[in-house]
Amino acid sequence: MLEVTGVTKQIGGLLAVNRVDLMVGEGKIVGLVGPNGAGKTTLLNIISGLSHPTQGRITFKGENITGWKPEQICRKGIAKTFQHAHLFPELTANESVMVGAIFGNSHSVSLDEGRKAAEKLLDFVGVAKEKQEMLIRNLNVVELKRVQLARALASKPKLLLLDELTTGLTPKESNDAIELIRKIREAGISILIIEHVMRVITGVSDKIVVLDHGEKIAEGRPYEVMNNQRVIDTYLGDIDAF
Ligand SMILES: Nc1ncnc2c1ncn2[C@@H]1O[C@H](COP(=O)(O)OP(=O)(O)O)[C@@H](O)[C@H]1O
Ligand SMILES: [Mg+2]
Repeated sequence: MLEVTGVTKQIGGLLAVNRVDLMVGEGKIVGLVGPNGAGKTTLLNIISGLSHPTQGRITFKGENITGWKPEQICRKGIAKTFQHAHLFPELTANESVMVGAIFGNSHSVSLDEGRKAAEKLLDFVGVAKEKQEMLIRNLNVVELKRVQLARALASKPKLLLLDELTTGLTPKESNDAIELIRKIREAGISILIIEHVMRVITGVSDKIVVLDHGEKIAEGRPYEVMNNQRVIDTYLGDIDAF
């Protein structure tokens, strides 16, 4: 479904992403991990069109989407949440999800349909009814993450890119997020997820890709990657991954 081939992103003198190959199959969950500064967010930004690669190619459902604008990529079926919540502080939760439903879609959606779709999605991600009409700026971090997820889902993606959805959540909240991620996959959506917490990533991923200094250093099933000596040395050994 998604094929990233030889993608490089040079920022000044730095290779933030260096010749990375990555595939996400239909209905699969792929975890992207690595230390801070490894290039994970940069790679997700490139896939979603927010940033363009210096070299390499992104193919989605057989079409070369390299260099497309974010809104074209979104309408083609790739939606993304942000590591730091970039939402619309003066809109209500419901309105911000409506934006995704109305503008993120390739087919036209009326205001009324958008509002109903937003309500359904906010219920699905677990935002309480009374919070749905509150302004974004009055929501807490957990609620914001849920609204972001609902907004991304509102564009009816085939592939969802999640950047540190569970960072800052309690273990209980992370477990709820894992459940949600599984439900999203059951609905037929493929997922590429960046996570710091290894318990989350190994629990949901079919495959894990490890980046370090912009390069892919390992790829495989969760237990293979967790037992890979290079991954243990460069990543698992020195961070609070558990
Ligand atoms: N817009 C930018 N300008 C300068 N450096 C950047 C920019 N975006 C990312 N970088 C650098 O690229 C590297 C990869 O960053 P990032 O993709 O955010 O890593 P990760 O998400 O894995 O923590 C880091 O060294 C970061 O400082
Ligand atoms: Mg990041």
